[in-house]
Amino acid sequence: MLAIEMLEITKVFPGVLANDRVNLRVEQGEIHALLGENGAGKSTLMSILFGLYEPDSGLIRIWGKAVKIRSPNDATALRIGMVHQHFKLVHNFTVTENIVLGLEPHNALGNLDLRSAEKRVAELSETYGLAVDPRARIENITVGMQQRVEILKILYRDADILIFDEPTAVLTPQEIDELLAIFRRLKSEGKTILFITHKLKEIKAAADRCTVLRRGKYIDTLDVSKTGEAELAEKMVGRAVIFRIEKKQARPGGVVLKIEDLTVIGAKGTPAVSGLSLDVRAGEVVGIAGVDGNGQSELVAAIAGLLPVKSGRVLLKGNDVSKESIRNRNERGLGLVPEDRHRHGLVLDFRLDENLILKSFRRRPYSNRAGFLRFPVIFRHAETLITDFDIRAGNGPATLAKSMSGGNQQKVIIAREIDLSPELLIVSQPTRGLDVGAIEYIHRRIVEERDKGRAVLLVSFELDEILGLCDRIAALSKGQVAGVLPVEEADERRIGAMMGGVHA
Ligand SMILES: Nc1ncnc2c1ncn2[C@@H]1O[C@H](COP(=O)(O)OP(=O)(O)O)[C@@H](O)[C@H]1O
Ligand SMILES: [Mg+2]
Repeated sequence: MLAIEMLEITKVFPGVLANDRVNLRVEQGEIHALLGENGAGKSTLMSILFGLYEPDSGLIRIWGKAVKIRSPNDATALRIGMVHQHFKLVHNFTVTENIVLGLEPHNALGNLDLRSAEKRVAELSETYGLAVDPRARIENITVGMQQRVEILKILYRDADILIFDEPTAVLTPQEIDELLAIFRRLKSEGKTILFITHKLKEIKAAADRCTVLRRGKYIDTLDVSKTGEAELAEKMVGRAVIFRIEKKQARPGGVVLKIEDLTVIGAKGTPAVSGLSLDVRAGEVVGIAGVDGNGQSELVAAIAGLLPVKSGRVLLKGNDVSKESIRNRNERGLGLVPEDRHRHGLVLDFRLDENLILKSFRRRPYSNRAGFLRFPVIFRHAETLITDFDIRAGNGPATLAKSMSGGNQQKVIIAREIDLSPELLIVSQPTRGLDVGAIEYIHRRIVEERDKGRAVLLVSFELDEILGLCDRIAALSKGQVAGVLPVEEADERRIGAMMGGVHA
């Protein structure tokens, strides 16, 4: 029996055909993945199913019956629940208080009956193996647990169809495994699961079937057990995907970045980086491997001038820049692709062409002698970079940064930084949250910069990415370099041990 049928669904946003006659058929009791690159139209389709958007045309049937879903309340009445990418929990409330919010249970005397609600939450948690404490405060539980509270919230409202928008994006590898196990448990209890992802591994691990969207269009629905990762990737991207990063042997030159005995104080007031030394040469990629929170962010911030240096020195081509302003460091040839794209990488309310000259607008040709911006020049500059970096923006150079997908926002930052021809390019988590096509592209550009003789410092939590891209790998543990290995001598086990604090 079909739980969901979405037929010929079309949704237009100004300038964007987000869903173009999309079809989706989900069987009762299956785990169905919705696969597609950033901007493919997945969230739009799910938002239509959950009543957040109305389609321009098309038909929806739930349990075989044609329905109009005009609001999330309609969806809830049809036993459809959705766990969004950003949770909507009240942090100083308890788990149960969050779950009953909006439908507070009352006892015979008309008083709020939290006790019976807690009991029901505990039962649901037990049934589905969620291990959630009904009385815990949201602010005291992990992101993974908060996600389970969101699941409980919709189960409490009797959802039979559960929709998840990129549920694994915020989770650690171990939490991902646990969530996929929860999916299987929900399925064994008769629930229907629909989850959005662009990670092929997760689909292979958990989904029964998979529907692929590409640029707003329906591509195919596949039986996952009969489909390989390469085929899934090809359907998603529209061409064969190379999983291996192809590169020649590096030919390193002189030292561009020298870090000497660097100590940086972190947000807790204690050293996040302590006594760290490292060199990066022209024409090589040096990788910083490590588990999140071992000083990576503070190290990059101190090199770029976003955090003060407590002691030690940062030298760029022999010049001590430890006390210099961010702008001076940029002028001396430092380019940065920051880990937080939204806070440090882009001005979201600015247009694409403006974002592409954030660091160079004072200079010619973007400003004239009198200091006025030359908009036609800025516009044409953006057109060139849009082509060179394969940036997809519906409205060309005039597109607002905030309306672009994550992968394309990241391409904008990378385009801007590479366009300045920096001698030292620092790239921090360059592919986090991006799809296969964008990852492949960004990796290629990083290797190209290396081959042009730039010094590249790459920070990543993805060991595969580090091993694939770098010429030398420094493992970071508790703010110190536990060891540096040439890639030829590195493997997952050796680097993993150093990340865990075993010094080489
Ligand atoms: N509210 C909106 N207004 C305008 N355009 C939107 C809106 N939501 C999504 N889009 C555009 O529609 C397309 C599909 O977006 P989305 O459904 O979020 O893709 P996905 O979830 O697959 O990454 C993108 O080009 C996106 O920029
Ligand atoms: Mg989305």
